[in-house]
Amino acid sequence: MSDWSSKNPYMTEITENFILNGEGSRKETRHIVFALGDSGLDYKVGDALGVLAENPPHIVEELLEVQGWNRDATVTTHNGERSLYDALKKDFEVHMANKKFVQSLAEKVVSSGMKISMSIVSRTRNEDAWSATADQNIPPSLRPSVPSDDPASQVEAITADTKAIEDYLWTRDYIDIMREFDVKYSPEEFLELADRLKPRLYSIASSHDAHPGFVELTVGIVRFEYNGRARGGLCTQFMADEIDTSGAPIGVFMSPTKSFVLPEDTDTDIIMVGPGTGIAPFRAFMEQRVHDGGSGKNWLFFGDQSEKTEFYYKDEIESWIDEGHMWRFTTAWSRDQEEKIYVQHRLKEHGAEVWEWFERGAYFYICGDKQYMAKDVHRALIEIAMEHGGMSEDDATHFIEKTMMREEKRYLRDVY
Ligand SMILES: Cc1cc2nc3c(=O)[nH]c(=O)nc-3n(C[C@H](O)[C@H](O)[C@H](O)COP(=O)(O)OP(=O)(O)OC[C@H]3O[C@@H](n4cnc5c(N)ncnc54)[C@H](O)[C@@H]3O)c2cc1C
Ligand SMILES: NC(=O)c1ccc[n+]([C@@H]2O[C@H](COP(=O)([O-])OP(=O)(O)OC[C@H]3O[C@@H](n4cnc5c(N)ncnc54)[C@H](OP(=O)(O)O)[C@@H]3O)[C@@H](O)[C@H]2O)c1
Repeated sequence: MSDWSSKNPYMTEITENFILNGEGSRKETRHIVFALGDSGLDYKVGDALGVLAENPPHIVEELLEVQGWNRDATVTTHNGERSLYDALKKDFEVHMANKKFVQSLAEKVVSSGMKISMSIVSRTRNEDAWSATADQNIPPSLRPSVPSDDPASQVEAITADTKAIEDYLWTRDYIDIMREFDVKYSPEEFLELADRLKPRLYSIASSHDAHPGFVELTVGIVRFEYNGRARGGLCTQFMADEIDTSGAPIGVFMSPTKSFVLPEDTDTDIIMVGPGTGIAPFRAFMEQRVHDGGSGKNWLFFGDQSEKTEFYYKDEIESWIDEGHMWRFTTAWSRDQEEKIYVQHRLKEHGAEVWEWFERGAYFYICGDKQYMAKDVHRALIEIAMEHGGMSEDDATHFIEKTMMREEKRYLRDVY
């Protein structure tokens, strides 16, 4: 066992980093390989890798410039004494603003009748929601008399409730807000408000038996643009843009799972549902099942926007099918036709067979989007139990949620 952890990550390098999407894709999904070198780090399929990233240099530079801070000033952070530049780059999340900072504006901005530099009310995630929230939360007595470009009343409206703050923050980072209100903070004041930098977790996409000394990921890069500035996710941009295969060090650690594991008996059948980056642990599962042998059948449901541009790991999947390792591969390309086709539609189309597999003791795995996909797939399973198991809705729900999930532990999820 090695002692590497989020507080003491193993510093390694990325040895392979390439885009899995075909030309013309709306997405940027990457296959990223890390060397485990002499770390002694080991992992099993189903585990996740923790990655410690840094803020993009252009954001740190802009922040220093907007606030007129001295990059070499010494500051003390939770990681000890260091230059302000290093603290902003490595110790705090400065790529996205937080609620505490927005709330601090109330003390910084005084009512002056001064016009602010950008229109606040017109740039929100959901304009209707914003208008409703803002109107409801500004005291009625203030509504007609306060000019909408008065900074103090704007801050009051923005901080009226959590939803208003979230909507405001969706399109702005610290730099946008500092410019918008022309506010100045001392470095100490700012670091007190900013969030500490947190590691991100990624489902491991490789079996250590198949790739000794390496760990591989499938990563969806988060990029967007607001107010004319390119922005995005901290860790995904770091891996895509700053680290790449340059040899620069990047901190990693293992985050083992107790529950998202393969059946001990290699003769047990498994169904895997992993659209988008959700395919990651199932590439690992397949590599492990091929390595371990056994007669258990493997059925993968995969999908994404288009077969032409999002068929990740196509060659590997085709060779598993050709060699008889993958018993069935079912796809759901959501945007290759008029109507959306998602994995849960395919599951239901194959409901009779899925039910037969459940009756024979198959394990069911799901990985990927938690907010919508996992909920819809869960519902599809209940409907399959009703339709093909002849159960009432209550019995079907009990079977999926209690029997399969809690008691028999053969409905397993890795969703995020
Ligand atoms: C157990 C586990 C396993 C995971 N496995 C994987 C995996 O295999 N592959 C993978 O890619 N990810 C995986 N994730 C997600 C991963 O951990 C990160 O959350 C993800 O990569 C984003 O990290 P980031 O630092 O780049 O983005 P962050 O800096 O954390 O930013 C992400 C946030 O950006 C905001 N955002 C996104 N789009 C927009 C937009 N258009 N406008 C404004 N704001 C926006 C959202 O609030 C979002 O939460 C997993 C998560 C968990 C918990
Ligand atoms: N926590 C985070 O910070 C973070 C960061 C990055 C990603 N994520 C999550 O991880 C997920 C994975 O992203 P990804 O790019 O790999 O894939 P994705 O966005 O989940 O898309 C994969 C496929 O799922 C489809 N889909 C959309 N809604 C669905 C639903 N309700 N049921 C079933 N399928 C559905 C998509 O179709 P359409 O696109 O055609 O609708 C697409 O074909 C994202 O959805 C996101 O929620 C989270």
